[in-house]
Amino acid sequence: MAEHTTINKIAGFVGQVVYLQGWLQNRTDKGKLQFLTLRDGTGVIQCVAFHKNLSPEAFEAARRLTMESSFTVTGTVRADPRAPGGYEIDVQDLSVVQQAQEYPITAKEHGVDFLMDRRHLWLRSPREHAILLVRATVIKAIRDWLDSHGFVNLDTPILTPAACEGTTTLFETDYFGEHAYLSQSGQLYNEATAMAFGKVYCFGPTFRAEKSKTRRHLIEFWMVEPEMAYADLDECMRVEEEFVSYIVQTVLRERAAELQTLGRDTTRLQQITPPFPRITYTEAVEILNQEGVEITWGDDFGAPHETALAEHFPKPVFVHRYPAQCKAFYMEEDPTDPKLSLSVDLLAPEGYGEIIGGGQRTASLELLERRLKEHNLPREAFEWYLDLRRYGSVYHSGFGLGLERTVTWLTGIEHIRETIPFPRTLGRIYP
Ligand code: 4AD
Ligand code: MG
Repeated sequence: MAEHTTINKIAGFVGQVVYLQGWLQNRTDKGKLQFLTLRDGTGVIQCVAFHKNLSPEAFEAARRLTMESSFTVTGTVRADPRAPGGYEIDVQDLSVVQQAQEYPITAKEHGVDFLMDRRHLWLRSPREHAILLVRATVIKAIRDWLDSHGFVNLDTPILTPAACEGTTTLFETDYFGEHAYLSQSGQLYNEATAMAFGKVYCFGPTFRAEKSKTRRHLIEFWMVEPEMAYADLDECMRVEEEFVSYIVQTVLRERAAELQTLGRDTTRLQQITPPFPRITYTEAVEILNQEGVEITWGDDFGAPHETALAEHFPKPVFVHRYPAQCKAFYMEEDPTDPKLSLSVDLLAPEGYGEIIGGGQRTASLELLERRLKEHNLPREAFEWYLDLRRYGSVYHSGFGLGLERTVTWLTGIEHIRETIPFPRTLGRIYP
């Protein structure tokens, strides 16, 4: 009897007969010998079909298999150091599930638009497979770390009545005759749950109608947002550096093979352990000016500024205390200088830039009311949020880590669009 298994478990079946189900990734025709590369989602393995070992019908089916045809094999597992992956299957039987039509993605170079139009098929390629496995591991590491450090997962709504991160990137929709917006961030709701549970996080899809077409922006992305009552800006940075280091080290350990497939040089990632360097916004501006990168105090950083700054440090760097004018309405004021906010961004090295935004939130009712006015936000929509400052307001902090930005950095790839199964980018919603 053949043992029904998967390729990732094949090492436990050497010398035994197994049954595998998958798709054809490649075939080399040597006449009486067919080398079939079987892909089953968990891995790939070479299947050797020798005409003498199969029925004439099965051998003929093997010889005619087209790329990405679905098929099953029964055969003996052989350990062979020369085989890719170290094992191969000596095929005894083979059956075609579906003979695929001519597969559009071939070994030749394809343009990005061509591949993006076929994203539903492109996902099968080794590179995309590796990137998305890293993504899955990052998600698990995020949850494991937070769940084991006292954070309660309480997800926040996606349909919301108000803006969190400014009104220019809102996606508007109709909510039974009322205006509703797709969530830009769960933070405001997190602040409410943090007052009920202490340490919380939400983790879900986030929407920004960003008109920018860059290698770092998606229209729909995933963000994990921890929020902590009775935590100040310093505590926020301590949590961030522990959290990010855990994610990086987990990926290095559990996804070494995938990082190798991607050709990722992991030298710099290996050094990522707490503490991370911390500089103020004002110090960052001085560094940039010395470097000859143009910036005026008070302006927000763009990608070139972040890249130049991050290159000064071997690890991700915290930039804290941005001018209040370049940050959102909810940022706490720096008690030593009201022009500054108790905000902090974490910038990743190697040109990847901001992966986290966060900081300490305004605890005072009066300041928050003033900020809503300054930002032209409709007070009625925020009455519930103001309540949090009326009933037991405490200093509190939190942050949002962009999942796809983090995966782009860890995999060392050029563009964020490959880090999510079906990217939503400016001008693309298909497939
Ligand atoms: O800096 P942002 O806008 O911060 C917030 O939304 C806060 N409310 C989070 C919080 O404190 N709870 O976004 C946080 C992170 C960014 O650092 C970036 O990693 C990611 O979300 N991000 C995007 N990722 C992909 N595409 C986009 N368009 C992104 N916009 C932000
Ligand atoms: Mg930000």
